[in-house]
Amino acid sequence: MRRAVCPGSFDPCTNGHLDVFARAAEMADEVIVAVLINKTKSSLFTVAERIEMLKEVVSSMPNVKIDSFHGLLVDYCRDHDAPVIVKGLRAVSDFDYELQMAQMNYRLARVETVFISTNPLYSYLSSSLVKEVATYGGDVTGLVPDLVLERLRAKISGTIG
Ligand code: PNS
Repeated sequence: MRRAVCPGSFDPCTNGHLDVFARAAEMADEVIVAVLINKTKSSLFTVAERIEMLKEVVSSMPNVKIDSFHGLLVDYCRDHDAPVIVKGLRAVSDFDYELQMAQMNYRLARVETVFISTNPLYSYLSSSLVKEVATYGGDVTGLVPDLVLERLRAKISGTIG
């Protein structure tokens, strides 16, 4: 079985992420979307909340599973028998850091990275921009799954008053 890992923070997941998951699921037998547990980085949604949303939004993709990890991604890949990482590449600005990580991950454990060119509809989209726009009352409809939109609104109204 050819298993691939799509790693990230997904705080929250966007329609750009979903597009990458769906396309990765066409290439691999099984895709694990792996949420990084990073206690040093502040996040809007807890890891449990992110996992719950991800499970819901990939429910129509039978070969996509959701998990979390901490530590090195290559260790997770080894432990889960996944020789390939799949990442979305939005623009040249993503490239330098993504290339460094891909080369390091190959150096560490011979884990390959495959880049999917993001759908141009979502090339400007990021979780942080979605959070910022939503926090100040901007409309992010169509940029995140409907469930995420609901949770964002609830979270932000709860946070800000
Ligand atoms: O969505 P993000 O936050 O940009 O995802 C970054 C992620 C999770 C892919 C990256 O930070 C990562 O792989 N972290 C795990 C720790 C690790 O393996 N670091 C070395 C990378 S070469």
